[in-house]
Amino acid sequence: MQEIKLDSPFDSHLHLRDGDLLKTVAPISARAFAGAIVMPNLTPPIETIDAANAYKARVIQAIDAPFEPIVALYLTRRVKLDDVKRAKIVKLYPFGVTTGAESGAKNIGDFDEIFGVMQDCGAILSVHGESGGEVLQREAEFAPIYEKLAKTYPRLKIVMEHIGCAALANLLEKRENLYATITLHHLLYTLDDLLGGALNSHLFCKPIVKTAADRAALRQLAFSAYPKVSFGSDSAPHPKAAKERGAAGIFSAPVLLPTLAELFEAHSATDALRAFVCDNAQKIYDVKLPPKTVTLIKKPATVPNEIGGVVPMRFGETIGWSIA
Ligand code: DOR
Ligand code: ZN
Repeated sequence: MQEIKLDSPFDSHLHLRDGDLLKTVAPISARAFAGAIVMPNLTPPIETIDAANAYKARVIQAIDAPFEPIVALYLTRRVKLDDVKRAKIVKLYPFGVTTGAESGAKNIGDFDEIFGVMQDCGAILSVHGESGGEVLQREAEFAPIYEKLAKTYPRLKIVMEHIGCAALANLLEKRENLYATITLHHLLYTLDDLLGGALNSHLFCKPIVKTAADRAALRQLAFSAYPKVSFGSDSAPHPKAAKERGAAGIFSAPVLLPTLAELFEAHSATDALRAFVCDNAQKIYDVKLPPKTVTLIKKPATVPNEIGGVVPMRFGETIGWSIA
């Protein structure tokens, strides 16, 4: 049987939530990946190193496989410089742009001192890059902010999270210290999948999926093993009823590696998959991961309609690949 072996695959952007939902979703990622950067947009936000360490312990408690969770520090006005110095990843949410961004930055200039400290101590700035403008323009409107940050702090590694448009993809060649993550859903879907037929609330997320041309720009990066880009799922579970009321976030964790194998194979890009989900992240984040070989086999499996009250991406569909 055809197979693909992945050494320590890494999810560079993951939402694991807390409490019962954490217990439902964390084992799914821990089975498929050797580690992840875990997002801090909980209520209340993770804005101290103590809170990040306590959350990390809860994640580890919830899983039963070797898995390294790296919890990002949420950049709020309450964050202390001492904590920033001890953080590996600091997450910037502009105020109100997405789920859990109520503690985000109203004025990015408020954090200049912190950015300066970060570039001196080698912490990585992870950014949800969207403006408060019209929904389809929000990412493109953020491009000048990325450029300004990259220019002002040339030694600061800045990761443009879950890029969903060509305008942001084009920045990677312009600025040496700009990197990016790309999700599976932005590689797979466009606006037509979300609202071209019956509205599919399960494909609604921030940033929103966009045009075929935008998707082509992202595919070009992923399928060419472009070294400044790593896979970050942005898997973001919400209970079914909340999704049907329009909550933003796609629960993709249960289908990630099999769907990536299918997609890369369909585009004759299987050789680039390792760079995208394993090697590039190692170089960008310099993380120590438990050794873990994940084998994908070409055996079809059908995605369940619900997992612990959450509807996974591709529910009811059959994927051509499975985790062995
Ligand atoms: O769609 C999204 N959902 N985008 C984000 O940036 C946050 C996430 C969530 O936490 O639900
Ligand atoms: Zn996210």
